[in-house]
Amino acid sequence: MADPTRHPFLEDLSKHRGAPPTAVVIFGASGDLTARKLIPAVYNLAADNLLPPDFHLVGYGRKEIADAEFRTLAADAIKEFSRRELSDDVWGRIAERTTYVAGGYDDPAAFDRLAEHLARIDEQIGREVQPLFYISTPPSVFEPILLNLGRSGLAQKHLGKPHHAKVIIEKPFGRDLTSALELNRTITSVLEEHQVYRIDHYLGKETVQDLLVQRFANSIFEPLWNRNFIDNVQITVAEEVGVGSRGGYYEQSGALRDMIQNHTMQLVALTAMEPPGSLDAEAIRDEKVKLLRAIQPLDPQHDVARAQYDAGMIAGKPEKGYLQEEGIAEASNTETYAAIRLSINNWRWQGVPFYLRSGKRMARRVTEIAVQFKRPPGTLFAGGGFDLATNTLSFQIQPDEGLSMVLNGKVPGLETRTQPVKMSFRYSTTFGSNTPEAYERLVLDAMIGDGTLFIRGDEAETSWKLYTPLLEAWAEAGRVGMDSYPAGSWGPANADELLDAGGHLWRKP
Ligand code: NDP
Ligand code: BG6
Repeated sequence: MADPTRHPFLEDLSKHRGAPPTAVVIFGASGDLTARKLIPAVYNLAADNLLPPDFHLVGYGRKEIADAEFRTLAADAIKEFSRRELSDDVWGRIAERTTYVAGGYDDPAAFDRLAEHLARIDEQIGREVQPLFYISTPPSVFEPILLNLGRSGLAQKHLGKPHHAKVIIEKPFGRDLTSALELNRTITSVLEEHQVYRIDHYLGKETVQDLLVQRFANSIFEPLWNRNFIDNVQITVAEEVGVGSRGGYYEQSGALRDMIQNHTMQLVALTAMEPPGSLDAEAIRDEKVKLLRAIQPLDPQHDVARAQYDAGMIAGKPEKGYLQEEGIAEASNTETYAAIRLSINNWRWQGVPFYLRSGKRMARRVTEIAVQFKRPPGTLFAGGGFDLATNTLSFQIQPDEGLSMVLNGKVPGLETRTQPVKMSFRYSTTFGSNTPEAYERLVLDAMIGDGTLFIRGDEAETSWKLYTPLLEAWAEAGRVGMDSYPAGSWGPANADELLDAGGHLWRKP
C-alpha cells in the first residue's frame, strides 16, 4: 500500500538529479553574468557532486583569451562571487576541463571551429557529450548566435537522443510582442521547443519553488484559495539598488520590461494558476499560460502607475535621482517604478485584484507575495479595544526567506483585547542559510533536460500581449503621467491612489 504520508508531488520532486556527460558552452563568457552567476553556479554544482563525470566548460566570445587566462578569470570569479570559498580540490576537477574558443557571433567559420572543438572533446573521452549552449550576450546577438548554431549543425547535434543539444537563452526575451514573436520564429527555425530553455532566474529561487509545494502539498490552502475568501493579492518586488552602471541598458528597458513583464508575472502565474495534473514541465506551463490568458487587458488610465526615483536617503546615505544617474537622458521617460492592478477573469479569481509593484531605490530590498483574506464579520470583535487585522499569508521570497501568517489573538489579561500576531517559518532557522543560488538549479535542470522552471515561448508571448499596448501608450504619453518618489521610500503617490480606488492600502513589508 502507498505510504499515506508521502505526497505524490514530493515523490516527483525528489526524482533523480543525474545529468548526462555535458559540455556547457557559454557565449559571452567574458561578461558580467558569466562571472557573477554562471561560473560560480558551475563551481557549486561541482562542490555538491552534481556535475556529470564527463563535464566540460567552454567559454566563447570575440575577445582573444587563452585557455589558461580563461581559467584564471574563472577562478577569480569564484573567489569573488561564489557562496562557497574556492577549494583547489573542487576547482581542479573543473579547471582541467575548462577551455576557450575565440570567435564572432556572426562568423560561420568560428562556429565551425567550435563544432570541431566539441568533436575533439567527444573523441578525447570516447563518448558523445551533450552540448548545452548558454547564450549570455546582449540581445542584439541572440539571433546571429541561433542562426549559426543552426547552420553549423550544432543545434541538431544528437537530435533524437536524450543528450541532444540544448540552448539556454537569457533575458530579455524580446522588448514587445512583435520582437518576442520574431525571436520565437528564429528559435523554432533552428531548434525544437524542447531544446530551448528561456531563463527567468526567479523560477530558480528556492522560495519560488516552495510556492508550488506550499500550495499543492498542503491541504489547508486550496479550499480558501479563491474569490470567496481572498480579498486581494499584493506582489512586491522592491530593490534598494538604483540603475548603477547599467544606465544604457535600463533606458531601453524600464521597470515594466525589466521586472514586471517577466519575474513578477511568473510570481502571479504560480500564485494564481490551477493545480496542474502533474509536476511535468508541460502540465505546469499549460496551467501558467491558461492563467496568463485569463488576465484582462489593462486600462492605461486606471490600472497602472509609473514613476522615477528622485534624490533621497537609503540607509543613512544620500542617493541621487534617476535623471542624475550616468547614461540617462535629461528628460528620460523611462520608469524606475511600475504598479499594476490585474483582473483575472476566471471562476477562481473574478473580482480579486492582484496588485503588482516593482521599483528601484525603494525603502528596502524585498520580494513578497501577500495574500490578504477577507475581513472577519464585525459582529463579535468590533469597536474599541479590538485591534483586528486582515489575515495575511505572505511568502517572503527574499531576503529573510520564509512564510508568515497574520492572525488575530487575545492579549493575555482579564479583559478581552485582541492583537494581530504572526506565525512564521524561516528557511534559515529550519534549513540553515547556505541554500543553492537560482542559477545552480537552472543550469542543472537544463543539463538534465527538465524545462519546468523555464519559460515556454507561448508564455513569454502571452505576457508581452498584455503589456505591449501599455508600453505603447506610455511611449506616446512621454512624461505625462510620470510621477516621482524619493529614493528610500515605498513609492509614488499615484501608486497609492491606484489601491485607494479599490479601498486597499499597500503593505509595508
Ligand atoms: P555583458 O554586457 O557583460 O556582455 C557579455 C559579453 O557579450 C561581453 O563580455 C562581450 O564578450 C559580449 N558583448 C557585449 N556587448 C556586445 C555587443 N554589443 N555585441 C556583441 N557582443 C557583445 O552582458 P551581461 O553578462 O551583463 O548579460 C548577459 C545577458 O544576461 C544579457 O542578455 C542580460 O540581459 C542577461 N542578464 C544579465 C544579468 C546581470 O546581472 N548581468 C541579470 C539578468 C540577465 P566579447 O566581447 O568577448 O564577445
Ligand atoms: C534582473 C534585472 O533580471 O533582475 C535587474 O535585470 C534586477 O535589474 C535583477 O536588479 C534582480 O534580481 P534579484 O535576484 O536580485 O532579485
